[in-house]
Amino acid sequence: MTLVLGIESSCDETAAALVTGDRVIVSQAIASQEAEHAPYGGVVPEIAARAHAERLAPLIERVLAEGKATLKDCDAIAATAGPGLIGGVMVGLVTAKALAMASDTPLMAINHLEGHALSPRLADASLQFPYALLLVSGGHCQILRVEGPGRYQRLATTIDDALGEAFDKTAKILGLGYPGGPAVERLAKEGDPDAVPLPRPLVGSGEPHFSFAGLKSAVLRAKEADTHRDADIAASFQRAALDCILDRTQIALANMPPVTALVVAGGVAANRTIRAGLEGLASDQDLAFTAPPLPLCTDNAAMIAWAGIERMQAGFPADPLDLKARPRWPL
Ligand code: KG4
Ligand code: ZN
Repeated sequence: MTLVLGIESSCDETAAALVTGDRVIVSQAIASQEAEHAPYGGVVPEIAARAHAERLAPLIERVLAEGKATLKDCDAIAATAGPGLIGGVMVGLVTAKALAMASDTPLMAINHLEGHALSPRLADASLQFPYALLLVSGGHCQILRVEGPGRYQRLATTIDDALGEAFDKTAKILGLGYPGGPAVERLAKEGDPDAVPLPRPLVGSGEPHFSFAGLKSAVLRAKEADTHRDADIAASFQRAALDCILDRTQIALANMPPVTALVVAGGVAANRTIRAGLEGLASDQDLAFTAPPLPLCTDNAAMIAWAGIERMQAGFPADPLDLKARPRWPL
């Protein structure tokens, strides 16, 4: 049975995992840097890179020990090679190269976005290509037609902020701390989503792109006006964001050849209001809807190992050890 060690270090989670070709996560470990970055209200790249460098090797040792495996048992080492904060990506990739060289194991360099895009198939063996994927996290906001490993059609991306970033900025404006998405969702439950008139950027436009900068500025103005309850601002923001997502996804679906399902992944997929809205849209369109379990939505190494397995199974060769880390790397 294929066994792959996955390594993830592109943002603020240091992670390692052992995954098999029949979708078993044998062992995994994640070290979050939330506490280190919280005082700054966001991820500080230098602090992130140092934390990855300190934590990655012991994490890998732990995952191998818990999986009762050695590097020699692995068919490949799969590591995120971009896109992301370059210092962190380099820590993970250099570590993977050293281990690959020392144990004579093939290296699979993985695009982090491909990890997110294929993660739903790790959780759900019945999910078939091609499917429509809404990828919404702190760093990414895209709609993709996922046709197979290495085969992606990107229909939409953001022209300014990612959706998770808009949640985080709204949290900051409302004084809710970092990371802000879950805090905004909690406060929104106590508010009226129709109380504060907020814009829906790009809704109605024929191109399915995203924009959230104008929405964020309107939230700031609403807060400064001091005439609304914070809970009403949070609820109205969440409703406006959902309206944008639903409209943009609908246009993207209309612009792509048929798909087997609508899938949402990335940290914002944890939001119940957004999940429920998308489920409704899928059902209106007679499409199956699926979202990976939460630990697979946010950054993790199991999805990187799984992307390595899918690429090997699709016949992609191992990557050379002089491969460079890439801060930007569109799918
Ligand atoms: O996928 P992820 O862990 O990391 C990135 O690759 O960016 O996503 C983190 C993002 C953050 O912006 C966070 O605020 C957002 O996902 N998020 C949420 C929720 N949980 C996490 N946004 C809205 N509602 C949530 N419940
Ligand atoms: Zn991510």
